Amino acid sequence: MQWFAQAPSNIALIKYMGKTDADKNIPANASLSYTLDKLITSVSLESIPGKESRWEPLETPGISTFRLSSHAISRFLAHLEFLKKKMGYQGAFIVRSNNNFPTGSGLASSASSFAALTKVATRALCELTQKESPSQAELASLSRVGSGSSCRSFFSPWCLWDKDTIKEVELPYTKLIHQVIILSHEEKKISSSKAHELVKSSSNYYQRTARAAENLKQLLAALSSKNWVAAFEICWQEFHDMHRLFETAKEPFTYMSEQSKALLHLLQKQWHETGDGPVVTMDAGPNVHLLYRMEQADDAERFKHNHLVGHYDVL
Ligand code: PMV
Repeated sequence: MQWFAQAPSNIALIKYMGKTDADKNIPANASLSYTLDKLITSVSLESIPGKESRWEPLETPGISTFRLSSHAISRFLAHLEFLKKKMGYQGAFIVRSNNNFPTGSGLASSASSFAALTKVATRALCELTQKESPSQAELASLSRVGSGSSCRSFFSPWCLWDKDTIKEVELPYTKLIHQVIILSHEEKKISSSKAHELVKSSSNYYQRTARAAENLKQLLAALSSKNWVAAFEICWQEFHDMHRLFETAKEPFTYMSEQSKALLHLLQKQWHETGDGPVVTMDAGPNVHLLYRMEQADDAERFKHNHLVGHYDVL
């Protein structure tokens, strides 16, 4: 028997950084994300005899074979085991997966991957054990245990995650144009899991929860009242706050490359000159994410054409 599911990635504007419970991935602060419907992971499951599941790339004609590191494969299969235990099933599966965005693009795929695996595995396990399907919120909570940020991929377009509550929030900007500027194709030296631990040694970590809560309150107010300039300013401050935690950790580290800094400078200059632009954010990596309102489609194309094409990959 075979099952198949897909799930999108998401980008946080208020960042999840630091955990109060690392085993269950309970975040130290609430986060708010926009779901990236174009960046998708597909996962299929095939039930096989025996007890040991294994991972394989999901082959798509015309697309080069998808690869995962052995660490990523173990994490993926461990999440499947967690779901099997939850549902009281002992059989094995071949798990096949791929992303529709290029391997080695430097884009984290854990959010979309774990969300898609949780979806397909619960579907298969419910069928095999004749249990009722979990609600969307229950699916999100199960996914959260595998990868924290994956829980936000269950609600679109805006998702609010606070402690063990994950839900959709209604905000006016229901459709935005997302671009991610790829500044490094390499796998990050410090994973986000490691970053969650390391930031705790920063002297700025004290009161980070309060700062994130204030940023969230202000961002929700800005988005609700369609104050795009304020939304840009809060998001700018918020991702810099997270990156400052990395840079002030006891053993400091950074994801900001010279290219990231140059691009941020350029984006800031454009904002100052024109009074408008994209909301800008960065995750635990060097890549720069841009979100434009739909009516800025021409501006988005112009910026891409004038400053990005020929220098960087843009997805
Ligand atoms: O879900 P994780 O453990 O990969 O953490 C994600 C952390 C950030 O991407 C940096 C921020 C976020 O909220 O997605």
